[in-house]
Amino acid sequence: MNAETKRPRVLSGMRPTGKLHLGNWVGALENWIALQEEHECFYFVADWHMLTTDYADTSELPSNIQEMVTDWLAAGLDPEKSTLFVQSRLPEHAELCLLFSMITPLGWLERVPTYKEQLENVRDKDLHTYGFLGYPVLQAADILMYKADFVPVGEDQVAHVELTREIARRFNNFYGPIFPEPADRLTHAPRLPGTDGRKMSKSYHNAIYLSDPPSVVSQNLATMITDPARKRRTDPGNPDVCPVFDLHKVFSTPAEIGRINRECRTAEIGCLECKAILAKNVNARLAPIQERRKAYEQEPQKVWTILEEGTQKARSVAQGTMMEVRKAMKLA
Ligand code: TRP
Ligand code: SF4
Repeated sequence: MNAETKRPRVLSGMRPTGKLHLGNWVGALENWIALQEEHECFYFVADWHMLTTDYADTSELPSNIQEMVTDWLAAGLDPEKSTLFVQSRLPEHAELCLLFSMITPLGWLERVPTYKEQLENVRDKDLHTYGFLGYPVLQAADILMYKADFVPVGEDQVAHVELTREIARRFNNFYGPIFPEPADRLTHAPRLPGTDGRKMSKSYHNAIYLSDPPSVVSQNLATMITDPARKRRTDPGNPDVCPVFDLHKVFSTPAEIGRINRECRTAEIGCLECKAILAKNVNARLAPIQERRKAYEQEPQKVWTILEEGTQKARSVAQGTMMEVRKAMKLA
């Protein structure tokens, strides 16, 4: 809880993947935006975390940060309400990560489910690195630096927040009570399918982007896979197995969802019409975002200024925490 504002403090980070898609938006960003009304929010670009997997080619990093933060602002993150910053601009995070690394048992890191899973599944890069194993230690430093009350994250990140609490506990045992234990705030977002029916993801090339113009959205949705058993217009379909219907559940009105749910099963509505309704609704939701996006596209420097100002605010908190930490560890 922040003493001055009496608002609980929230912290979360996002790896700079570039332009955001609908899955990023309904999965995380909408939630971040909602939280900024009642909480003191710190949101940052986790560019060092990006390097734990994408270290070999960093050429796209600046433009990916720029595009992602442009989407943050366009979607409604408000720099007047939330502190927006870039992780790598704050060496304090690296210092705290180093100190935590001294007290973090290897076994804790090897046990993290995402670690083993990614080592086995990711084929196109070598993740047998010190940095990748230490990923959650850096994340703990991000979170504890701001003594966050809540960390809004998706399911895949819950184990990292759990580990953060364990590191906080261990630190406090050794050096005295410095860090409160943060709670995770699971984002209950539906898993959005992409145009091929798999989870929407930049790497699958199946995503609809927040910045896609209406014609591109309509075209991409028109190619989206449907109930595979519905081959002809006259075949009845089953919305329960159709990824288009999953998107309707997020973007369409209850009346439209009800109608499609009935008329698909009786072949009254065809997939083309069904997808056109979806495209209309997605485009209506994207219109205000794209309107706000224009201003930042015309003045890209604004985005960096906002990040610079946020970084300064974050730095004063981070410096305060590091003074306490160094003193507690007799490093002052
Ligand atoms: N690991 C998170 C992700 O991949 C990003 C992240 C880094 C983060 N540091 C964080 C999230 C601190 C919450 C809090 O999504
Ligand atoms: Fe899917 Fe809509 Fe076609 Fe039914 S009508 S199969 S819900 S796209």
